[in-house]
This record gives sequence, C-alpha cells and structure tokens, in this order.
Amino acid sequence: MANLLRLNDLSIIEINSILDRAQQIKEMNDEGWAEPNHTLVANLFYEPSTRTRFSFETAEKRLGYQILNFSSKTSSALKGETLYDTVRTMESLGAKAVVIRHQELGYYKALGRIDLSILNAGDGAGDHPTQALLDLLTLRQEFMMLRGLTVAIIGDLRYSRVAKSDAEVLNRLGCRVLLSGPDAWRNESLPGTYVTVDEAIEEADAVIMLRIQHERHEHAMNMPREDYHKRYGLTAERALRMKPESIIMHPGPINRGVEMDDELVESTRSRYFKQIKNGVFARMAALEWAISTDTKMRVEPVAEKL
Ligand code: CP
Repeated sequence: MANLLRLNDLSIIEINSILDRAQQIKEMNDEGWAEPNHTLVANLFYEPSTRTRFSFETAEKRLGYQILNFSSKTSSALKGETLYDTVRTMESLGAKAVVIRHQELGYYKALGRIDLSILNAGDGAGDHPTQALLDLLTLRQEFMMLRGLTVAIIGDLRYSRVAKSDAEVLNRLGCRVLLSGPDAWRNESLPGTYVTVDEAIEEADAVIMLRIQHERHEHAMNMPREDYHKRYGLTAERALRMKPESIIMHPGPINRGVEMDDELVESTRSRYFKQIKNGVFARMAALEWAISTDTKMRVEPVAEKL
C-alpha cells in the first residue's frame, strides 16, 4: 500500500512503470477489458471538480472497485467533522484507498497514522500528481521521448498546482521547461526558465496553458479578461507562430477566450480532450499502484529529489 501525494515522492522508475501500465490499459481498453473485484475506494472532494472526480470514478468502475462517494456539502463535514475523522471513518468502513481533493495545502500530513492509500486529487496550490501523470502520458503518446522536449507552462504559475506538479516532473525527466505569465504570478520555486509569452509559444513542442485560479487569489484580478487574453493568452495569431508539430494542452476547466482562443480548444493542435481520456488510464494505473505497492519494499527517490 502506498500514497500518491507528490510525484517528487516517486522514483522515475515508479513514474515510468505507472505510465507503462496506463498505456497498457489504454491499449486493452478497446477490447472492453474489465476486472471485477471488491476493493472499496472512497472519493472525498472538498473542492469542486469535474474532470478529476469523474475520471477517478470512471477509473474505479473500470477496475471493478466498489465506490463510496462523499460530498462535503451533504456529509458530516458540514457539522465540523475533521478530515482525519472522515478518513478514519472510511478506513473503518473497509476502504483500501481514499481519493482526496482539499483546499488545504499538504492536508495529507495530518493523516500520517491512517492505514489506507491516499491519492491526492489536488491540495490547495500544492500538488496535482494525477494531472501530471495524465499530462506525461499524453506527451509520451505524442513524442515518445520526453528527454530534450521543450514544454512551455503559461499563466497562473503562482497558484496552479498543475504548474508545480508538471514543472517538477518534466524537469526531472530532462525536459526544458519554459515558464511565462504575469509578473504578479511568478513562482520562483518552479524549475524552469522565464521567457516572454511569445518566446514560450514559438519555442515549445508542447504549450500548457493554465487556468486562472481566481478562487485562490487574495485580490480580484485587476485586469480585464480581454487584456489578459491579449497579453498572456494563446491567441489564434500566436498559435500561427507555433512549431509545425507542436501541441496545445490545458488541464481544464478552460476559460474559453481568456487563456486561449475558443477556436483553438478543438483545433488539430489541441490535445485537451485526449488529456481527459488519458486521465482515466493514468488514474486506473495510479490506483492499482497505490493499492498494490508494499511501502516497506519501496526505495524512496532520495537521490533524485530536486
Ligand atoms: N484538471 C482538473 O483538475 O479539473 P477539475 O478541477 O475539473 O477536476
């Protein structure tokens, strides 16, 4: 049994093995594969989610797991029950794993004594490891080799957990990471090189546009959406200057016409819906890995830590 909290906690061998398994599942998917079992998994979402929540639920169903769905709006969390007690409750009910999205950075640190796998579906502006796995799977399918690839991450770098998880693992895998966005949202802790939006878009093999994380901002954005789009967005005009084979990615949900032009979302360069499909395969592989891994046998990726 293992946790999936930050990709930095996994070795490259483990990451590649999850990606290999995700790819294998993708290939078996067309043959209608399903493996029934009685593993009980609970999904605890304290923040809104469409892709991650339903993708985890789809992954669990495809694995034949039994599912407990929790909503913070209709549970005893409303009466003040702590996350720890909620997870202990799921453990007592027999859950082998919990998938948690929570607004608190590093919420999982308070769950150390619990004897089930925790899969982090997003902790505040911290990490989003399964989004990074599905992004890696998409990049592997497109380019085969990740080493040497140039990936641009553009937008709200300060508050985006996708930016953090993606930049860290891409850097570990030998990609050149270009970062760009408004100065107020710079994040000096991210590995990568800051460039202008135009440079990032022109040089990248893959351009990852980030959603503006309004819900985490202390102050409302003091820039009209149209101005943000012109200055930092992927406009149709900028997209014309992308390299011939380069692709566009976005973790979703997209603010169409803000982070990127509406017409680009479903353009031939866009991999937005492919990312969502890959989310199911990546999460199936991540769930299998977390539930089946014996942590006592794991080798921590100490030497590889950034
Ligand atoms: N990419 C992502 O985390 O989307 P949701 O917030 O809809 O889950």
